[in-house]
Amino acid sequence: MAKELKDWFVPWLLTSREYNVGILDKAWASPEKGRLMLNENPIPPSDKVINAVANVMKHGNWYPDSFLRLRTKIGKMYGLGPDNVALCNGSSEIIDAMMRIFLQPGDEFILSTPTFELFPPRAELCGGKVVQIPVRKGDLQYDVDGMLNAINKRTKLILIINPNNPTGVFIDDKDLIRFCEIGVPLCVDEAYLDYNPDRPSKAPLIKKYPQVFLSVTFSKAYGFAGIRFGFVLGTKEMIAAFKRMFLPWNVSVMSAAAAEAILDNPEEVKAKVKHNNKWMAIFTEELKKVGLKPYPAHGNYMLIDATMTGKTTEQILAAAMDMERIFLKKIGEIRGKSGYFRVTPGKDEENERFLKFIRAYFK
Ligand SMILES: Cc1ncc(COP(=O)(O)O)c(C=O)c1O
Repeated sequence: MAKELKDWFVPWLLTSREYNVGILDKAWASPEKGRLMLNENPIPPSDKVINAVANVMKHGNWYPDSFLRLRTKIGKMYGLGPDNVALCNGSSEIIDAMMRIFLQPGDEFILSTPTFELFPPRAELCGGKVVQIPVRKGDLQYDVDGMLNAINKRTKLILIINPNNPTGVFIDDKDLIRFCEIGVPLCVDEAYLDYNPDRPSKAPLIKKYPQVFLSVTFSKAYGFAGIRFGFVLGTKEMIAAFKRMFLPWNVSVMSAAAAEAILDNPEEVKAKVKHNNKWMAIFTEELKKVGLKPYPAHGNYMLIDATMTGKTTEQILAAAMDMERIFLKKIGEIRGKSGYFRVTPGKDEENERFLKFIRAYFK
C-alpha cells in the first residue's frame, strides 16, 4: 500500500511543539483593539526609515551584497569588526539556525521555563531534546544550579535571555560567567537590552569564550518587528558558521536600508525607549495600587502575578477584551498556578484603556 504523505515527513516534524501565531491574524483584522500582548513597539518607523526603504526599492531588482558598511557600523557599536556580525531577518532566524548548527537528533538544549515560546519548537524540529528548568519560586530568577546540573554529554546548546522574557529579570554577571566557563555553546539573547541604556551588552564575552554568541533584534526598541532585522555577534568562526547556515540572501535590501537609516538616527530609538519606560513605570505603580504583583521588568513587557485574586489567566484575558478591547498575553501556569499575564505598553490611548481595565476589574 502507498505510504501516506505524513509517513514521508521526518519523524519530529509532527511531534514538535507548534508556535502559535493565530493571534496575529486576529489583531491585524481588528486594528482598533489594543495590541498589548506581543512585545511590539507601538511607535511606527520614522519618515527617515520609510524614505530609505523607498529609495533602495529602486534597486530592488538586484540581489543584495553582504552589507559590509552596515556590518561595520554594527560591529563598531560593540567594539567588534564586520566579520563578527552576521545579519538576519529578525532574531527568530538565529533561533532556527543555532539549533541546526549545534543539535543532532537526540542532543539536548537547556533553557528555562517560562520562556519565549519559539525556542522549544525550533529545537524539536531538529530532533533535539528540550530540557526546561523552571525559574526560581518567588523572584522568578534563573535556577542557575538547576540548569548547570542538567548539563550532560548530550548537552549541545544553552540559552540565557538577558533580560529574560517573560519574567523581565537580568541574570547576575557571576552566574552568566558560570555558564560561559562550562564551554558548551551558549546563546545570550539580548532582544530587550536596548530598553536599558545604562546596561552594556555582554558582547565582550566572546573574546574570552569563543563558544558564546549574542542574539540581537531590531524588533523591540527599534520597532522593526514587521520589517524584520537582527544580527548575531560572535567570533569569526562562529559567524562563519551562522553565515553558512543562513540562506545567502536572507536579509532584503529594504530591511538593511531601514536598519542603516535608524542607526544613523539614534534619536528615534531614544524616543521609543523613553515612551516605553515612562509607561512601564506608570503600569508598575498602578498595578500595585490594585493589589497585583508586577515583576520588576527591564524590557517592553511586564509579567503580572494576579494569582492572589483567584481569577484565572483565561478569565483576565477575556475580561480585558470584553471591557476595554485590549489583547493581553496569556502566560501558562508558573509552578502550578494560573493567574499570570503579561502586558506591553502600547500607544497612550491604549495604555489608558489598560489602566481603566485593571482599576475596574481588580478593584
Ligand atoms: C527573547 C526573544 N528572542 C527573540 C525574539 C524574536 O524576535 P524577532 O524574530 O522579531 O527578532 C523574541 C520575540 O519576542 C524574544 O522575546
